Amino acid sequence: MRTQVGIVGSGPAGLLLSHLLAQQGIESVMVEDRSREYVEARVRAGVLEHGAVKTLTDAGLGERLHREGSRHDGIYLQFPGERHRLDFPDLCGESVWVYGQTELTRDLFVSRLAHGQQIYFEASDVHIVDADSDQPRITFIDSDGHAQVIECDYVAGCDGFHGVSRATIPESIRTVRERHYPFAWLGILAQVAPSTDELIYAWHPDGFALHSMRSDTVSRLYLQVELDDDIANWSDDRIWDNLATRFALDGWSLESGPTLEKGITPMRSYVSAPMRWGRLFLAGDASHIVPPTGAKGLNLAIADVRRLAEAMGHAVLHGSDDLLNRYSDDALQRVWQSTYFSWWMTSMLHTPAANDPDADFLRQMQITQLRYVTGSRAAMETVAENYTGKSMDGIEGLLAR
Ligand code: FAD
Ligand code: PHB
Repeated sequence: MRTQVGIVGSGPAGLLLSHLLAQQGIESVMVEDRSREYVEARVRAGVLEHGAVKTLTDAGLGERLHREGSRHDGIYLQFPGERHRLDFPDLCGESVWVYGQTELTRDLFVSRLAHGQQIYFEASDVHIVDADSDQPRITFIDSDGHAQVIECDYVAGCDGFHGVSRATIPESIRTVRERHYPFAWLGILAQVAPSTDELIYAWHPDGFALHSMRSDTVSRLYLQVELDDDIANWSDDRIWDNLATRFALDGWSLESGPTLEKGITPMRSYVSAPMRWGRLFLAGDASHIVPPTGAKGLNLAIADVRRLAEAMGHAVLHGSDDLLNRYSDDALQRVWQSTYFSWWMTSMLHTPAANDPDADFLRQMQITQLRYVTGSRAAMETVAENYTGKSMDGIEGLLAR
């Protein structure tokens, strides 16, 4: 089989790439190692930057997002006894949208399959071959057990952190920069109306907590837990007790409800560069991951793919490799900006491990930092610009040709 772009992975990055390519008349075939149901059900991100919403809207994918998602004009930053609102439009002129990654993925699948996109689900033994030649190929075993080969002009590695694409690039030409954090996030999806109108990021001596949401009837909440903690240690009662303690504020109460889903995620910052090797281009989690505190992972995947689709369009339609040659360097600027902000938010809000000899000092630094960040307009503008993605506009301006 032959196509113009072979795409490994049908998460948000792969699906959006195939959509943006199709809009330019460029054909692609996708290979995914899970089922559609599995990919659609994975509960992950919830916040979209204004630029990501614009990308999706311009691509004709914003209809349900605008109807069922909700625009948020701020967040709350909390520490014991104090909850402060950051007003994004006032601070930087932008907002964010709350729309679950599950919903976005569903919209993308519906649209791609309605347009006849070829997607091989439940593929196994996926390999990218001869990526540094003029004839790259994706080989795999399809769900019926047949060996398949996709010959293509370009391969897009959109197969997330545990995929095969990144590992296809020889270690000798890759540089990895990473940080492991000494804690994890326990996340729940709960059948209960959110107790807040906007997200609450709370510092507490027992650990960080985040109150997010998916709809008027479904809430998403997170707790900082030990890195090696087991979800079996966390009964629903224990989770709600901890949430109530960490969000406690006079005159406010947390509503609890049945838990629909719960799990523990380790936290890591990781960037592998370059994002290109020959005719293989990486996008999204395949190349970089951030801790979720800054809500950047999905937004970065969307930004990468928008850039890659434009660069591939330039190459295929105009015969110019200029943008493809710059793809990795240009994309990495935004990647590092988001990596920095995610690290900064994570460091400010997560309490140090109890056995850290500097724990007492570090906690005092965090409270001092939070007082500054919620008291100085300059500091609040910095958070607002980064959180909404406005600080990346200069970088994205490169695309406004
Ligand atoms: P993915 O969504 O990982 O998609 C990759 C796809 O490739 C998957 O469908 C996978 O099945 C497929 N694949 C993998 N290996 C192969 C293979 N060998 N062959 C073929 N296909 C393959 N971000 C936030 O902003 N906020 C959050 O709250 C948040 N929570 C998260 C929780 C978890 C548990 C995880 C893992 C991530 C979370 N993220 C969050 C990050 C965000 O979800 C990701 O940044 C986003 O999913 C990246 O999209 P992607 O398409 O690059 O990768
Ligand atoms: C979420 O809604 O899942 C969410 C929101 C903001 C974050 C992380 C996760 O920073």
